[in-house]
Amino acid sequence: MNDHKGDFRLPAGEEKFSNPDNDPRGKWTADPFDAPNIRPHLTYAVVNPNTGEEFWPPEGRCWRTTEDEYKKLLVDNRIVFGRRGKTKPQLKRFWSESKRKGLTPTTWWDDCGTTTEGTQELEKIFGKKVFDNPKPTRLIKKILTLSTTNNDIILDSFAGSGTTAHAVLDLNKEDRGNRKFILIQCDEFNKLTGKIEDICNSITAERVRRVIKGIAKAKNEKLREGLGGTFSYFELGDPIEMESILEGDKLPSFLELARYVFYTATGEEFDPKEVDEKRNFIGDSKEYEVYLFYKPDIEYLKATALTLERAKTLGPYKGKKRLVFAPSKYLDADYLLEYRIDYCQLPFEIYKLKE
Ligand SMILES: C[S@@+](CC[C@H](N)C(=O)[O-])C[C@H]1O[C@@H](n2cnc3c(N)ncnc32)[C@H](O)[C@@H]1O
Repeated sequence: MNDHKGDFRLPAGEEKFSNPDNDPRGKWTADPFDAPNIRPHLTYAVVNPNTGEEFWPPEGRCWRTTEDEYKKLLVDNRIVFGRRGKTKPQLKRFWSESKRKGLTPTTWWDDCGTTTEGTQELEKIFGKKVFDNPKPTRLIKKILTLSTTNNDIILDSFAGSGTTAHAVLDLNKEDRGNRKFILIQCDEFNKLTGKIEDICNSITAERVRRVIKGIAKAKNEKLREGLGGTFSYFELGDPIEMESILEGDKLPSFLELARYVFYTATGEEFDPKEVDEKRNFIGDSKEYEVYLFYKPDIEYLKATALTLERAKTLGPYKGKKRLVFAPSKYLDADYLLEYRIDYCQLPFEIYKLKE
């Protein structure tokens, strides 16, 4: 088990540890007892108790502890003198301690693949080359091992071929994690086909779909069985610029604005199935029934206000206040209170509830 998730340390390898003297503290490995630099108080003769031979620190070095500390370590059976007890002193390091501390990763990473490996991985998923220079999954997995814990959310805003999602799912399967991923990818010029392509759906998301489900003909067992997991795929629409509503320029559709207004005002998920454009109803939040008086037509916007007549069309109060977006209002505060209406003027007051 990796006890070092997210703390920028790697799990220590157990293979170097053994217990030839049945030490009750368990498996250990022998580290050098000498350390860099010359320090007078760390420089003394160590006598091998088995042979009587005297050892001094190697040239330019000292021992790791003072002589008093050394004597305590010797009594505590933490000093060994080589496998046969005949050489210089070494310090026992126990697996139980090393496991807890983990290993500091080096900055030279040559144990986690290359782009050639990334390309081969991708070819196994798609059956052909589909993307230039993908990262190897092992590299991203190593980064995730160092920097994330089981419930973290991993964002890759330059997702490319989707290696990050693949690595997240792979590591989750390996350590029963519940990491989530958010990938962002734009259309890009594909050198292989010479066209600008929507690679998000056909490569980025498709890779994730395939590794989740498994690829029947794959030789690699993990790839064949699939990694499991789920994800949702969204396409961003055109940006909605509120100024354009004033100018009547590039007006968003009713549904586009409804989505934007509902989410921005309430912070809750918008469900297009709830929308009833005829009633100007765009959904229920926890606190509100939300209404939008809008058409992508500048004349409508100029002429439409929340009036008493329109307030009545909202129907009877059903226990939830009504949040109404409209370009203007001809209704005073008493009526708003009577009809349980919170009014927001389009386009400026979309953010009102957030303040
Ligand atoms: C170096 S690639 C990432 C490779 C990825 N790590 C892999 O293993 O496949 C960077 C990707 O970011 C995309 N990209 C660049 N600018 C972007 C932007 N503003 N929004 C979203 N994606 C973008 C590029 O299209 C490209 O596919």
